[in-house]
Amino acid sequence: MKFFVDTADIEAIRELHDLGIVDGVTTNPSLIQKSGRDILEVTKEICDLVEGPVSAEVVATKAPAMIEEGRKLAQIASNIAVKVPLTWDGLKACKTLSGEGHMVNVTLCFSAAQAILAAKAGATFVSPFIGRLDDINLDGLDLIADIRTIYNNYDFRTEILAASIRSVNHISEAAKIGADVVTAPPAVLQSMAAHPLTDKGLAAFMADWQKTGQKIL
Ligand code: E4P
Repeated sequence: MKFFVDTADIEAIRELHDLGIVDGVTTNPSLIQKSGRDILEVTKEICDLVEGPVSAEVVATKAPAMIEEGRKLAQIASNIAVKVPLTWDGLKACKTLSGEGHMVNVTLCFSAAQAILAAKAGATFVSPFIGRLDDINLDGLDLIADIRTIYNNYDFRTEILAASIRSVNHISEAAKIGADVVTAPPAVLQSMAAHPLTDKGLAAFMADWQKTGQKIL
């Protein structure tokens, strides 16, 4: 399973990248807004730091303008994946941009039917949003499982990029189902290391170590 970081915060990406766990980055207009940075500048910095795919999202809503924006974003670096929304126009843009050899991430996927269309339109990645489905009392992980089954049935090569990750459980379950990639906020990726029994065990070891009166250094 590949890990993408869902942020445009350079320092957060750098810390995770230094640990060797970053296979790519996803951004979206909200994350660019949150960073307070210029989209072209911050995306270029991310691409210089991370070798893997960096998703940068178009903001036009009609296919011709999406295609033009996508071409401009793709010029930033060779590891750009142009992100387009899962609309009819977004699928047209996906078809054109992927035909030109660009990686395309089709985002805002909320149904298996949408995911089929993304694969047929040549998407490199499809991004089903787990958390936002959970938010409306549907099961986002069920959608990941459905897409996995369908893509396997027909040998679709589009990678399932589990997005809108809110918890460590989302990551573990998406991995069990067979999502190809998860993209998660830095805080969720960091919290994967946490377990109360690890903290409790470490505290006991430290207490016993103090009693020995020894030092390693
Ligand atoms: C994915 O590419 C999106 O940027 C992201 O996962 C959306 O997550 P959210 O629902 O927490 O905003």
